[in-house]
Amino acid sequence: DDNNKESRGALVVLEGLDRSGKSSQCSRLVSYLEGQGLSAELWRFPDRTTNVGQMISAYLSNASQLDDHTIHLLFSANRWEKRSLMETKLKSGITLIVDRYSYSGVAFSSAKGLDIEWCKAPEIGLLAPDLVAYLDISPDKAAKRGGYGDERYEKLEFQKKVAEHYKVLHDASWKVVDACQTIEDVEKQLQEIVLSCVTECQKGKALSSLWS
Ligand code: TMP
Ligand code: MG
Repeated sequence: DDNNKESRGALVVLEGLDRSGKSSQCSRLVSYLEGQGLSAELWRFPDRTTNVGQMISAYLSNASQLDDHTIHLLFSANRWEKRSLMETKLKSGITLIVDRYSYSGVAFSSAKGLDIEWCKAPEIGLLAPDLVAYLDISPDKAAKRGGYGDERYEKLEFQKKVAEHYKVLHDASWKVVDACQTIEDVEKQLQEIVLSCVTECQKGKALSSLWS
């Protein structure tokens, strides 16, 4: 028995442009994992239920105006306020399927022109995902799916910039999934990569911190 090899849940993050299908795939993944007898929870950032989250939500709906640095730090604070609960859940064996995380934070803010290293700094020390699945779709195709809402960033020109800024964040923990396949094909591909990640974590893969 090895103390460094404790079984735990996996931290799985889905990233992608608005309308890439993240939210539906996240719910499908949670149902799938539960069907496999695994415990899993659906999380999302921003978490609009907290005080910080309500400030973010007001900003996104254009009900309030904030300096670009200020809103960036609020998004980050919204993850920090959930960090210890995430760790507790993971250590108790629950897999977290998270709809957006620090990569959204950095991609969206740096797309506005903020320095990328400055954007990454407040994320240092948050839990590093075991897997980042990037739902890849061109900004034009995403826009054609319809249903961009009225929120601040849901505009084609800005989404094009975000797509460019996501690209520089790809690292070894990323799996790029073609989000233009059918919902079912995306779902199948995600199930495979997530299940193997969950298995690694059950075997005791160590938790680490951003950016690693
Ligand atoms: P949502 O549509 O997934 O609720 O996210 C709201 C918007 O916030 C979306 O356009 C992406 C953006 N965002 C950031 O700018 N920074 C962040 O840290 C996060 C999590 C999201
Ligand atoms: Mg949205």
